[in-house]
Amino acid sequence: MSAELSTAGQVLTAHRLSAGYDGRPIVHEIDVEATPGRVVSIVGPNGSGKSTLLKSLVGVVPVLGGSVSVGGTDITNRPPERVATLGVGYVPQIDDVFPPLTVKENLEIGGYLLPRHQVHERMAAVLEFFPRLKQMMTRKAGKLSGGERKMLAMGRVLMLSPSVLVLDEPTANLAPLVATQLLEEYIRGFADAGSTVLLVEQRAKAALRISDHTLVLGGGRVVLSGRPEELADNPVFVESFLGGGARR
Ligand SMILES: Nc1ncnc2c1ncn2[C@@H]1O[C@H](COP(=O)(O)OP(=O)(O)O)[C@@H](O)[C@H]1O
Ligand SMILES: [Mg+2]
Repeated sequence: MSAELSTAGQVLTAHRLSAGYDGRPIVHEIDVEATPGRVVSIVGPNGSGKSTLLKSLVGVVPVLGGSVSVGGTDITNRPPERVATLGVGYVPQIDDVFPPLTVKENLEIGGYLLPRHQVHERMAAVLEFFPRLKQMMTRKAGKLSGGERKMLAMGRVLMLSPSVLVLDEPTANLAPLVATQLLEEYIRGFADAGSTVLLVEQRAKAALRISDHTLVLGGGRVVLSGRPEELADNPVFVESFLGGGARR
């Protein structure tokens, strides 16, 4: 990764976090610690609360109990723009780009919190990192391939030089080879360059390969947690996530 794209990571912590909709918790008493230079991944079946957890960290879904902090600053229930300003870049599972707008316009929107003169500079750094986007600046985001669209979604978030990246299923619907490249080259690359990465990923095997630590959610709770090699040795994990039939 180019030096100017990366920013030293910050620690993102959730402590006994509960969050949900209409005052009813979906995730319960979750502890997360994501640190610079590392990838922490979250896996779990559909509906286990992975997206809800990420959304509550970044201020999109209300925190009902516990706390969230970044770099020692409490961000519990702070508005999403405030969380972004403090260096947390969030790429949602859906609605990750503005389809009717061009690639360039999407990147400009990503830089909306920047002073005007910095937008150009940042865009150049982002395009250095995702050179593929350079050739499609005037194309509508809705016309991109799945892999290109995810690069744009991440590029949009990188416009603000985040120190923490929160990514919700970035490889959903991508061809296996594209997914592997995104995970092993770009996402692992963010962490290797010093950023903090918190990743929700449905490809458990691929997630383990690039992770330093993995949490397994079930029914809104952490049911297992450990280093990849620990989980790969855990019969329950292997049966549920690495066995042939259960994995998508
Ligand atoms: N906007 C919402 N309002 C009410 N319930 C929701 C909303 N979004 C998700 N849920 C519920 O929260 C639970 C967890 O969903 P989600 O966090 O999307 O899980 P995952 O990302 O692991 O598939 C599901 O039962 C889902 O129906
Ligand atoms: Mg989800």
